[in-house]
Amino acid sequence: MKKRIAIFASGSGSNAQKLMEHFKRSNEIEISLVLTNNADAYVLQRADNFEIPTHVFDKNEFYKTEEVIDLLKNLEIDFIVLAGFLWLIPKSLINAYPGRIVNIHPALLPKFGGKGMYGDHVHNAVMAAGEAEGGITIHYVDENYDEGEYIYQARYRIDKNDNLEMVKFKGQQLEHQHYPRVVETIVKKIKK
Ligand code: GRF
Repeated sequence: MKKRIAIFASGSGSNAQKLMEHFKRSNEIEISLVLTNNADAYVLQRADNFEIPTHVFDKNEFYKTEEVIDLLKNLEIDFIVLAGFLWLIPKSLINAYPGRIVNIHPALLPKFGGKGMYGDHVHNAVMAAGEAEGGITIHYVDENYDEGEYIYQARYRIDKNDNLEMVKFKGQQLEHQHYPRVVETIVKKIKK
């Protein structure tokens, strides 16, 4: 049986898209479920395009019940990939998937991470700090924002004339290039 990944995403889902494309023809790994806290998230459309089941949950369900964990277990999900998911992962879910949840962050952690550091907030902070380089961090997830063990980092140069869009683009290119590959390497190593 293939190893089964669930993606959590809150927004557009361009990284989710790359993951779905990457594993579409894999014999070993599949994206089996896409979950979101946002019923309007474009990632739901992307999942539909790949005929991947989706689940939308609210705060109560996520933090006050075990319904999401039950769903993941019922669907025999082996691994969780966060791709632009904005809510903190509850301890119960981390305990249910120890060492089996990863996230991608659009900066070189430990710089520019933590609560409120997402999307344009990150890129604006990087530029305001006058950084000569930006980057991405793929890391394991624990109970705090952006603090789990780092798995992989990649860097890009920030030129003097770069605006927000340029910096975002460079970061996104790196994310799309590396996230599916890094996830594949990790998931291949875990036991079903
Ligand atoms: C990415 O920049 C990722 O690093 C961060 O959220 C963003 C998600 O973008 N965690 P997308 O929805 O995958 O396009």
